[in-house]
Amino acid sequence: MTVRIAPSLLASDFTKLGSEIAMCDAGGADWIHVDVMDGRFVPALSFGSKVIEAARRCSSRVVDVHLMVVEPERYFDDFVKAGADVLTIHVEAAPHLDRQLMRIKELGCKAGVALNPATPLAVIEEVVHLLDVLLIMSVNPGFGGQQFIEYSVDKIERARFLLDQAGSDAALEVDGGISRDTIARCWHAGADTFVAGNAIFSAAQPQAEIGALRALCTEVA
Ligand code: DX5
Ligand code: ZN
Repeated sequence: MTVRIAPSLLASDFTKLGSEIAMCDAGGADWIHVDVMDGRFVPALSFGSKVIEAARRCSSRVVDVHLMVVEPERYFDDFVKAGADVLTIHVEAAPHLDRQLMRIKELGCKAGVALNPATPLAVIEEVVHLLDVLLIMSVNPGFGGQQFIEYSVDKIERARFLLDQAGSDAALEVDGGISRDTIARCWHAGADTFVAGNAIFSAAQPQAEIGALRALCTEVA
């Protein structure tokens, strides 16, 4: 299975965003994770299309946009125009999930659904065939640097089973508290795409940390 490492720009130094993104590319990051927060779905505000556009301009990697916003459909056109490759919306903020996913695809973008820790997997059963990405939150969304929620591992295992049963080749992404201490457990549970903010940008050698995290995902348990 492919391993993808997705540094989260939320933890980067915004005074040098361009070189932080270039560092991710140089370190072999697969996806660049951009966390959009609206101060409503989650308490904090972060950034929007300007940062997506910056990521697109500075990186040749997949620009992976995580929308922690209510009424996410209001941003689809703008974010695709800015260069997003993946738009992932929260099921808790998407009452018309089928329509919203179809719209993302219509815009030529990959479509993802994110689930909060307390949200059961069952909510995506009917739309699993529409998913390019299933994002399991391993913290409550809204802030970087939080502690990994242990029961996420079991949920990842069940998510892997659900995707396999459906014959889906969607990426199974995990976000929140991913570090050297937690990544291998998530990999063995069946995740293949790992968002890491603080673990990378606060490391002594951020560029090398991308490879170090990847190396912990080995085929053998
Ligand atoms: C949290 C965001 C995450 C965050 C991860 O709401 O969705 O992407 O940046 O940060 P770490 O890896 O520091 O937990
Ligand atoms: Zn995120």
